[in-house]
Amino acid sequence: MTRKPIVVALTLGLAVLFSADSRTGFAQDSHVGDLTGTAASGKQLYRRYCIGCHGPQGDGNGENAQWIDPKPRDFTAATFKCRSTPTGTLPTDEDLDHAITRGFVTTNMPSWNPLTPQQRADLVAYIKGFSPRWTAEKPSAPINIPPETAVTLPSILHGRELFQKMECWKCHGPAGHGDGPSASTLTDSKDNPIRPYNFSTGSRFKCGETNRDLYRIFMTGVDGTPMPSFADVIQPNDAWDLVHFLRTLQGLHTQEASMWKDYAAKHGPEIKPIGPTAAGGQ
Ligand code: HEC
Ligand code: HEC
Repeated sequence: MTRKPIVVALTLGLAVLFSADSRTGFAQDSHVGDLTGTAASGKQLYRRYCIGCHGPQGDGNGENAQWIDPKPRDFTAATFKCRSTPTGTLPTDEDLDHAITRGFVTTNMPSWNPLTPQQRADLVAYIKGFSPRWTAEKPSAPINIPPETAVTLPSILHGRELFQKMECWKCHGPAGHGDGPSASTLTDSKDNPIRPYNFSTGSRFKCGETNRDLYRIFMTGVDGTPMPSFADVIQPNDAWDLVHFLRTLQGLHTQEASMWKDYAAKHGPEIKPIGPTAAGGQ
């Protein structure tokens, strides 16, 4: 009977190994469309594809993190930038899946579109396991986005008034170049410096690219950054006006941009500049 203690020791050892995985207590499934993701399958994928940046503990301290700006997300805090849900609340599984699929433009977070939908669902389940928030709270319902209103000149002009009144320019700059008076002073929730989005740099945002995505971004906020949610101060239809105005800042060939260009060509001198001393077209 000399063997028994070894078996016991082995069993104990295994038990310690499993409990040392602090995540198992929070393990969860994910639901993305018709798919159910499981943390057990996500674990191997995470070790293969994500660990180098997001770290073995999911705290964003992977071995490559020191070279990266902005830093990889800390999943233990469960604060996410791209949500369909109100500011301060957890994202839905679909929100996480979309973020993983899309990747984060202008950052080191790649698009994981080459993985299968099932693999991404498994990864969503696994990363939820890093924070107890997912067992204590449920994601809120996504915000309601009414159908888009027509793109008209009055809509663009009203959106421009909101850009002035809501002080978007203080961070994003009068022309949306990310160079407003507060821009150089901003830090994120980890005290790292962060720059406001520069609208002239392209068509994509971290959290999407369509007009609906744009609407969602400023009505839910970019949590963990100084970019606030405006859901309490901007009415739904007014929010579409702001979307239409933001499109004129992008240097893209959009309907909004050409309407604004025609207007500016005819009314240039009457247009009040945006900024601290301006009434901003009010
Ligand atoms: C090369 C580094 C790198 C790798 C590899 C990487 N990420 Fe990221 N990830 C980042 C960075 C950097 C951010 C933060 C970007 C930001 O805050 O703007 C991020 C953010 C995220 C977010 C946050 C989404 C949100 O809305 O806030 C999720 C989820 C995520 N990554 C999942 C993954 C998964 C899953 C993998 C593996 C399949 C992975 N990442 C691999 C660098 C990486
Ligand atoms: C206090 C400063 C501040 C104010 C005020 C502000 N923003 Fe931002 N905004 C930021 C920062 C910082 C980011 C960058 C977040 C990031 O990259 O993670 C940002 C990002 C964005 C983005 C891009 C998000 C993405 O997915 O890439 C949009 C769109 C945006 N802001 C719109 C607005 C609008 C519209 C207003 C006014 C209604 C506004 N912001 C007011 C600081 C601000």
